Amino acid sequence: MLRLFTRSTRNIPLCQRFSSTLTADKYPNIKRGDFGKINDEDINHFSKILSPNQLITDSNDITGYNQDWMKKYIGQSKLVLKPKTTEQVSEILKYCNQRKLAVVPQGGNTGLVGGSVPVFDEIVISLASMNNIRSFDQSSGILKVDAGVILENADNYLSENGYIFPLDLGAKGSCFVGGNVATNAGGLRLLRYGSLHGSVLGLEVVLADGTIYNSMHSLRKDNTGYDLKQLFIGSEGSLGIITGVSILCPARPKSVNVAFLGLENYEQVTKCFQKAKSELGEILSAFEFMDKDSQLLAAQTLKTTHPLCQDDIEGIESVPEYPFYVLLETSGSNKEHDDIKLEKFLEDVMESEIVVDGTVSQDEQQLKTLWTWREGIAEASQQFGGVYKYDVSLPLDSMYKLVESVKERLNELELSSTEDNKKPVYEAVGYGHIGDGNLHLNVAVREYNKEVEKALEPFVYEFIESHKGSISAEHGLGFQKKNYIKYSKSETEINMMKDLKKHYDPNGILNPYKYI
Ligand code: FAD
Ligand code: MLT
Ligand code: ZN
Repeated sequence: MLRLFTRSTRNIPLCQRFSSTLTADKYPNIKRGDFGKINDEDINHFSKILSPNQLITDSNDITGYNQDWMKKYIGQSKLVLKPKTTEQVSEILKYCNQRKLAVVPQGGNTGLVGGSVPVFDEIVISLASMNNIRSFDQSSGILKVDAGVILENADNYLSENGYIFPLDLGAKGSCFVGGNVATNAGGLRLLRYGSLHGSVLGLEVVLADGTIYNSMHSLRKDNTGYDLKQLFIGSEGSLGIITGVSILCPARPKSVNVAFLGLENYEQVTKCFQKAKSELGEILSAFEFMDKDSQLLAAQTLKTTHPLCQDDIEGIESVPEYPFYVLLETSGSNKEHDDIKLEKFLEDVMESEIVVDGTVSQDEQQLKTLWTWREGIAEASQQFGGVYKYDVSLPLDSMYKLVESVKERLNELELSSTEDNKKPVYEAVGYGHIGDGNLHLNVAVREYNKEVEKALEPFVYEFIESHKGSISAEHGLGFQKKNYIKYSKSETEINMMKDLKKHYDPNGILNPYKYI
């Protein structure tokens, strides 16, 4: 049975709608900066740097570059440039800096905080045409790529060579390695392979004035001075455009198992995690959790039988039956060893009633299917029209309290109905990389609207601050969280960031209206 909120149904005014509204109209307090406006002379200049197919001016062709993955932020760019070389990026930025033309670096446009699309008429600089694998060293596992290589392509290439990309996420088929580095993406296996701050060895970056910074070396250790590349990892296009990435890749595991478990409450989820760490140790490669409502949403888009469910109810193929689920993955080099360890762990958690039900993949196909119930939540959350997303770090014990508090708040508020007399909020769901202390809270809505947004913000950020968490565990600040950075960073830290921005981009042309 689908769950809907049980708020009052009396006649209330229609809420203010946001769907397909320009970002600039949605947020009228944000004014266009004092940037130049593109004219024919500018287009002529860019035509000298790029060939005709690297320049997009047709408004129909530009639509996709102006709108983000959530269809929440819509910009008004009239020009997209698609350089093929680092030198072209450098020439473009040099000119834009002189002319004070604002730009937005764009990768696969899968970012979830509105950072990858323009707010006004910024020029989109797409890295899509810079998509070559530059080199791979079989003995060290060091991969060097152009920033526009799609993550899945990089991983497939590595797979042929017995290696794996140390990052994996649901958008792997669309996002670019440069975009991953620019957002410091975390993903599904950070628990095992750590953050990009550790695995990225070097970068090639074009600064706002066109200067090319190059540290694309193959050294694991280098203590000569400041580690400058770290500045650009997670800088979301605010300090420079990343054009090349050198990254250390681990050997591809030979044996991978996935267990999908049902649990009675959140406390058991945290107990299960503690046991997994101590009993599975070095072979534990992912520990993800999902609440029941997130699985209900996923059931409606996946339209297949839920791994731990037998019944078909009211037209939906299957609905989950436990309040919480855990997807646990092990990766190692010896299948027999890993199987014995996992079996023993599963016996222990079932006997001690931490876990009440579960299933383990028997082949590659089953493994992939189990992952879809975790990876599919992002897409399922916006099937009704939109989604308000919060991506937070919180101490494990208080993590799920945020979801409960938001559900309670939304139930108590009398939000106006949509045009077809439905409640604007469909459901609030919690899931995420619990192994990294990272919760995803999604509020699935029938349309974006100010009332819902006001109910959620700054409420969510205040909750996070009071529990000493972070308002962005992995998606970044972008446009959405720019004004809320103070909930996670001190004034001193914010001032140091502003100093860096002023130093490297004095005209503020790189991704304005975002980050800080
Ligand atoms: P874009 O979306 O194009 O850009 C993101 C930001 O980086 C923008 O501010 C942009 O200006 C900047 N940027 C892009 N390329 C460059 C460049 N070359 N130089 C400088 N700046 C640049 N994130 C996680 O951390 N973990 C997840 O598990 C995860 N799962 C996801 C699942 C789905 C289904 C989706 C849609 C998104 C997910 N994300 C996740 C969000 C995540 O940030 C991205 O998918 C990815 O890292 C962004 O890469 P991109 O190439 O699409 O970048
Ligand atoms: C994920 O972990 O699935 C991603 O970060 C995307 C999301 O927040 O839904
Ligand atoms: Zn995530």
